[in-house]
Amino acid sequence: MAGIYIHIPFCRKACIYCDFQFSTNLKSTSQVISAICLEIKRCGQVSKTIDTIYFGGGTPSLLSSNELNELVNTLHKKFIVDSACEFTIEVNPEDVNYDKIKLWKSLGFNRVSLGIQSFNSTHLQWMNRSHTFDQSKNAMVQIHKHFENVSIDLIYGLPTLSRKQWQNSLMQVENFKPAHLSVYCLTVENKTLLHRQIQNNEIQIALEEEVIWQFKALKKWATKIGYEHYEISNFAREGKYARHNSNYWLGKPYFGFGPSAHSFDGDNRWWNISNNHTYMKKIMENKSPIHESEKLSPKDKLNDYIITRLRTKWGLDLQYIKNAFGKDLDLSECLQNGWISEKNKVIGLSDKGMLYADAATKALLV
Ligand SMILES: C[S@@+](CC[C@H](N)C(=O)[O-])C[C@H]1O[C@@H](n2cnc3c(N)ncnc32)[C@H](O)[C@@H]1O
Ligand code: SF4
Repeated sequence: MAGIYIHIPFCRKACIYCDFQFSTNLKSTSQVISAICLEIKRCGQVSKTIDTIYFGGGTPSLLSSNELNELVNTLHKKFIVDSACEFTIEVNPEDVNYDKIKLWKSLGFNRVSLGIQSFNSTHLQWMNRSHTFDQSKNAMVQIHKHFENVSIDLIYGLPTLSRKQWQNSLMQVENFKPAHLSVYCLTVENKTLLHRQIQNNEIQIALEEEVIWQFKALKKWATKIGYEHYEISNFAREGKYARHNSNYWLGKPYFGFGPSAHSFDGDNRWWNISNNHTYMKKIMENKSPIHESEKLSPKDKLNDYIITRLRTKWGLDLQYIKNAFGKDLDLSECLQNGWISEKNKVIGLSDKGMLYADAATKALLV
């Protein structure tokens, strides 16, 4: 079983924090979608059965009916899609209306990941989002009416997010209790407007103690109302894990199509050119859009296992590491700092370790 990721490299506006690959020039949308379909048709991975498909971006919800139809039909012609396949589309709130919902359902999407990000109008404007608070609320209502499996994305750690505003956001979510939540701490990525504004002292990053408070409040609230905190940024109700993302964390193979999309077959990793125009040109010239590839050494595989699994509830299985890689991890720094806990030779992040996950990971890498 494998997963498929389709990268839709278009957005209406550039959010100030985002370094994903996208263009705000929507004129070439149809051509890029046709190029992605050609990439799918030409790929060699025909015999795989697919159990998760994820349309991410960028903004997949801005695609027209023709564009989405072309992509979904191409996937069905090329692959055997399992009847229980988790089929997710990332949706931005401004795209939610009855016609689009009907379209997404008719194409077989059975899971929506809704990019709310914030329930505060001032913060939405600050982020340069394309939607208002009212559109976010309307999207929550409409999507929950038509889809059972809904995930929402929120961001905390914004420079001016107060404790009260964060608690209010969590209350808004509680009104709907979506099946799944992805809640990210604002990261300052190079080459973003946010990064430039911070460099120029136009914005101060949030105080560490506020960010820690928001994370703790999130964890306490989510656990109290029945979510399982199964990955550092992800919470699920009643086992409604994001199957597609869980497969990444569990080291299963996946194939990515579209500009910048990554793939992994268990032994090799490869990723596409990260530019719409160059990607299209390669496809039109009947050339591969792959930018780079690498064969993973046993050390790479062990480090990947540590990087992805440590952040999950499944943790690191020390016996598996010994059997598969012949290694004993050096746990001393993590233990001394109280970042990890161990049960039956499986280690996971402690509550404190969740706040220092990057440092804990670094300390364990071989
Ligand atoms: C690439 S976006 C695509 C989703 C969709 N386009 C949207 O904006 O709602 C995936 C998620 O990553 C998160 N994200 C992107 N950049 C981030 C950053 N710098 N810090 C924290 N979260 C970020 C956002 O929560 C976003 O929903
Ligand atoms: S956060 Fe989403 S909408 Fe904003 S630029 Fe990134 S991909 Fe586009």
